[in-house]
Amino acid sequence: MNLFNRFIYLSAVVLISFLFLFAYPTLVLAGDCIQKRKTPQAPGNIYKQANPLGVTAENISAGEKLYTKGAKPLACIQCHGAMGKGKGKLAMGMTPKPRDFSCQAMMKDIPDGQLFWVIKNGSKGTGMMGYKTLKDEQVWQIVAYIRQFAK
Ligand code: HEC
Repeated sequence: MNLFNRFIYLSAVVLISFLFLFAYPTLVLAGDCIQKRKTPQAPGNIYKQANPLGVTAENISAGEKLYTKGAKPLACIQCHGAMGKGKGKLAMGMTPKPRDFSCQAMMKDIPDGQLFWVIKNGSKGTGMMGYKTLKDEQVWQIVAYIRQFAK
């Protein structure tokens, strides 16, 4: 092997090791948080609806208040947790687990309208209850807030 070939060979080894050691685990781990969702899909046009409210600091902060305290009978934080990871106080031993809003790989495939509809109607047979007492505007504020967890 002349010097040039040896150089090419060594560079290839270094590059492949790098990809294997860093890039591969990063790709695998990024999707590791994805939960198996059997949650019913929102009907018709609601599913794909984008948040009609501006994602402003005001709306996000109103959403945060409802998430951490305001939502009755039980604030979202109790199950979905302060970091939105689905690890709130009441989440232990719950099957299926509360949604992990911080999981970008999963959340990017769940449209605003789906989040809105499940907050209003719940997911039957799971810990996720429907919040009929919240006004539409309040629910969209919460949607704006929970989107921040995956940013
Ligand atoms: C008693 C525990 C509990 C509380 C309180 C709770 N959730 Fe959930 N939530 C769950 C569980 C469990 C799931 C998973 C349901 C499923 O897998 O179908 C879930 C799922 C969700 C989803 C997922 C929708 C989807 O299509 O994947 C959203 C959005 C959500 N919750 C929002 C909220 C918001 C907002 C609040 C407060 C207004 C709240 N949750 C309060 C337990 C809870």
